[in-house]
Amino acid sequence: MTEHHGFPSDFFFGAATAGHQIEGNNVSSDCWALEQTPDTVFKHRSADAVDFYNRWPEDVRLTADLGLQALRFSVEWARVEPEPGQFSTAQLDHYRRLAARCHELGLRTVVTFNHWTTPLWFAAEGGWTNARAVDRFERYVDRAAEHLAGEVDWAITLNEPNVATVAAVGGGGVGGAAAGDLGEALEQATRRHSVGANVFRPMMLWDGDQLGRYTEAHRRARETIRSHMDVPVGWSLACVDYQPVPGFEDRAEALRRQAVTAWLEVSRDDDFVGVQNYTRRLVGADGVQKPAPDRPVDALGWELYPRSLANAVRDAASVSGRPVLVTEHGVCTYDDTLRREHTRHALRHLAAAVADGVEVRGYLHWTLLDEFEWFSGYDVTFGLVEVDRQTFARRPRGSATWLGDLAARRTRL
Ligand code: BGC
Repeated sequence: MTEHHGFPSDFFFGAATAGHQIEGNNVSSDCWALEQTPDTVFKHRSADAVDFYNRWPEDVRLTADLGLQALRFSVEWARVEPEPGQFSTAQLDHYRRLAARCHELGLRTVVTFNHWTTPLWFAAEGGWTNARAVDRFERYVDRAAEHLAGEVDWAITLNEPNVATVAAVGGGGVGGAAAGDLGEALEQATRRHSVGANVFRPMMLWDGDQLGRYTEAHRRARETIRSHMDVPVGWSLACVDYQPVPGFEDRAEALRRQAVTAWLEVSRDDDFVGVQNYTRRLVGADGVQKPAPDRPVDALGWELYPRSLANAVRDAASVSGRPVLVTEHGVCTYDDTLRREHTRHALRHLAAAVADGVEVRGYLHWTLLDEFEWFSGYDVTFGLVEVDRQTFARRPRGSATWLGDLAARRTRL
């Protein structure tokens, strides 16, 4: 049955978050280490972030009070396994309490097992380039899934494993460009953190067969999660809507295949595919083009093009043949009216896709709180809820109330 907001009655709305971007003091992680290099490429250090690590009870309450129906959060591997093989029950309990509280307040939990950041020790032994990387990841996922079983509704193994490929084909990756020479910063971090013959490789910053390595990690993690819980398992992908400039259809298709399609094909034997979309990118003679000067852009320079979400979802569903969960979509801006209106338009196009028969289970807006936007630090935001970084006081923006009202069926799209 379709409700007045244009989506089926079991469709759910929520907000997405990631540990390192909001928790604060993720001190055993690779990202934290990279932030501390002398020539750091991060505009700011994550530091306290918005202290979600301590303030989650207030934030979960707020999410439910707004009317939202789901919260996506990630488990920080570096907290759970700060030294190789040394697992912290207290930290696992922390995440279990968070998930359990979501359930008490009627929120579905969407749990990401890895949102880019890894333990420093993992990065120091070569990160994902290490031959034992997948075994390491599987061991962590096994412990985390065992501990969280019963409190997870949707499981995401890896967040945007294709992001480096998306960045490589052009138009930028995440959180804007690195503020400085990434190669030099990596060199410095490598000198500081490499262990023996191993080369420090943090997060997604490595060259090689990423598709092969992450596919293996994802599949092993998926089976491990399935051995502990009977919930939908998938991965979430950066699904940029690549569009050809007339005459460059083949070029756009090749680029899309490399950055998105090949990854979506991996989802064919998953339970769902997590779609994350923020913009479209036009592909012409020189590859990905910058948005035309007369086109509106957000604070990261990404074109504001509300149809891109529905286009990405249609594509993901058709390539993977699996149901879609929109695991991220949002706007990088302090102009909250823009955030609301852009989202409204994107959701109208999404509702049209659903009406056409595309299976979409829910929509998670990126992001709940003002966050550490990776390289761009705290100067920009995607947050529905404003956070004062001195007092940590939370204040929902109009877009948060609007989205909550929509979710709670108090308003129309
Ligand atoms: C990531 C988030 C990030 C957002 C905006 C996504 O690719 O998963 O961590 O903040 O994009 O850049």
